[in-house]
Amino acid sequence: MPEPVVVIGSINVDHVVRAGAFPAPGETITGQGVSIGLGGKGANQAVAAHLAGARVRMLGRVGADSDGELAKSRLSSRGVDISGVRTIADAATGSAWITVTPQDNSIIVVPGANAFWDDEQPLASGGVTLCQLEIPLAVVERVAEACTGTFVVNAAPAQPLPDALLARCDVLVVNEHELAVVSAASGVAAAHRDLLDRGVGAVITTLGAAGAVLTDADGTEELPVFPAQAVDTTGAGDAFVGVLAARLTVGDNLRDAARWGAAAGSLAVRRAGAQESFPSVEEIQALVGS
Ligand code: RIB
Ligand code: NA
Repeated sequence: MPEPVVVIGSINVDHVVRAGAFPAPGETITGQGVSIGLGGKGANQAVAAHLAGARVRMLGRVGADSDGELAKSRLSSRGVDISGVRTIADAATGSAWITVTPQDNSIIVVPGANAFWDDEQPLASGGVTLCQLEIPLAVVERVAEACTGTFVVNAAPAQPLPDALLARCDVLVVNEHELAVVSAASGVAAAHRDLLDRGVGAVITTLGAAGAVLTDADGTEELPVFPAQAVDTTGAGDAFVGVLAARLTVGDNLRDAARWGAAAGSLAVRRAGAQESFPSVEEIQALVGS
């Protein structure tokens, strides 16, 4: 049996408001509705990987509150092993405050318990390990040192990365904005070359509706575009990364795994919410094979 994907990252409760447009500073506008869902880039990627067929173990932090209980029970009912999720007594569960408009979304994240990793939890694993940047960077650096298998980093939200961490990344996944923060080189091609020179094994930059570009030692490839009518792009990047990790554990090469990720991202934008919008393995298979 393949090793589980180990996701070390954030868990949030997402508070979503839908509106026709973003309010300007100082402006009050009328919204169309609100909803609450489970989010956090770590939890989202864990759920996406599990839906794509992987066994998934999550290491994360929630507060000792009803949001924390909700997050744990949802994650575990979605098949994620949460034995590595710890409850922090004096912190609130992380929350995200999301505005969704027909064009785009904007997010404010309040980390809460996601910031509390001052304990001795072992972070090593031998299979595919997946991190994002909604937990302290020092934790991601510890994971980089401890992990003996394939280390996948999604540099979201954007943050500059230390050279030692980059040199340990087998796969780095970014969007265009994050790429500009992790590399000073301008343009996707030059930035990918820069990151490979600094020791990253492979870089994937997602370009929204324009698809994604992958560069590794064998060269650069544009991933296929799976066109979609976007309803809500929240979590689409997480679907991409989680499904990519799941496919790596079943032995796909990176290019095939990334194609699955791209198809999953395209499916996720077609439905509202983050985790609620993620596709099943059958849906992804049907799109990849089409
Ligand atoms: O990537 C989407 C996620 O970012 C949301 O679920 C929200 O929780 C924020 O972390
Ligand atoms: Na979505």
